[in-house]
Amino acid sequence: MPSLSTAAASNAAFSPSYAPVAVFVGGTSGVGQAMAEALARQTDGRAHIILVGRNAGAAARILAGFPKPTDSDEWKHEFVYCDATSMKGVRAVCDELKRRLQRINFLVLTASGPKANSMVECGETEEGLDNHLVMRYFARYLYTRDLLPLLVRAREEGQRAHVMTVLGAGLGFKVPTDDLGLVEARAASWKFLHGAVTSSAAMKGMMRGAAYNDGLVAWFGTKYPQIAFTHIYPGQVATEGKLFYPGWLLTPLSWIVAFMRHVIPQDECAQYMLHALLDAESERGGIYIRDNYGDVVGSHSFPADYQPNFSGDSSSSSAAAAKIGFLNGIPLKGYGGSDVAVARLMEYTEEVLSEI
Ligand SMILES: NC(=O)c1ccc[n+]([C@@H]2O[C@H](COP(=O)([O-])OP(=O)(O)OC[C@H]3O[C@@H](n4cnc5c(N)ncnc54)[C@H](OP(=O)(O)O)[C@@H]3O)[C@@H](O)[C@H]2O)c1
Repeated sequence: MPSLSTAAASNAAFSPSYAPVAVFVGGTSGVGQAMAEALARQTDGRAHIILVGRNAGAAARILAGFPKPTDSDEWKHEFVYCDATSMKGVRAVCDELKRRLQRINFLVLTASGPKANSMVECGETEEGLDNHLVMRYFARYLYTRDLLPLLVRAREEGQRAHVMTVLGAGLGFKVPTDDLGLVEARAASWKFLHGAVTSSAAMKGMMRGAAYNDGLVAWFGTKYPQIAFTHIYPGQVATEGKLFYPGWLLTPLSWIVAFMRHVIPQDECAQYMLHALLDAESERGGIYIRDNYGDVVGSHSFPADYQPNFSGDSSSSSAAAAKIGFLNGIPLKGYGGSDVAVARLMEYTEEVLSEI
């Protein structure tokens, strides 16, 4: 575990010869905001930083605080609107970014929001996706999949290319093979007052969202070994002084968590997250499961010509393919997927997204 000053010092050593292009989905508040601000400071503003979210006013305030280089025109700081609960909206933003960007070096996914973080309330979006999974997983999957050509281009130019999803890495959540969209869990939910209230469906959404992110980095990390894919846990963070929101019924829980656990400010968290994002090890690509200090819990780098195998033959045995914590026959600490479960999740995800 690096100290805060060690993490900050290692971030301070990041000095690329090119102006990095960084997209922060969820950069308008919390951990994403603090990471974008730290990167802007580190590069003296010489970067193309894109904050994606809904709150244009917050974005304008954040962007106004970034350093503005006067000796270079290689920079741009902008806001792009997206409601990430709409897959159509996410797709439109990705199409727009692909039209006008040459490359992306860093894609950082932090957006979740109160509905995705509630431990008691559940529901579904207008497009029929689970309220927890839509922001915790589906939007992140779609951003990753659709923006990958731009990350590949950055890597081809000899630059860094890193996708980081900030959620619940290494917490022991497993990728299941049943009820992947939580349709059955929601149907069994208990209706109470003004919404569907069920600890089971909401809690499942919280945990599965985290597990599915393991599947996300594993799937794309095996397909694109030259690019780094990180799933990281931020720890308990007081974002803009606020604690997490577990749902109205459990609000006192956030006070207990704050009392019992070490809660850090978002700027401190951002140093650890940035430390993991800019880490020299991930420069060569690979799959990383990291903790709240940016330390690697488990990682693996496949060779550049690697052919992914999630079917359980040749490189991995069929027993290993069904075993949680193994990726294509390789044991990966902190990883909650199995080849069978991840392949099923990906097939399901593509099926669902193709219908929207
Ligand atoms: N904070 C913690 O203690 C903690 C603990 C464990 C895990 N995590 C996870 O770590 C990640 C980062 O945490 P955080 O507290 O910084 O994030 P957060 O408060 O959950 O998310 C804030 C961001 O999400 C965006 N967002 C919310 N709803 C949106 C929507 N419908 N469309 C587009 N963007 C939307 C917000 O942008 P707009 O308002 O502009 O839409 C904002 O930028 C999250 O995934 C969170 O679940 C956090």
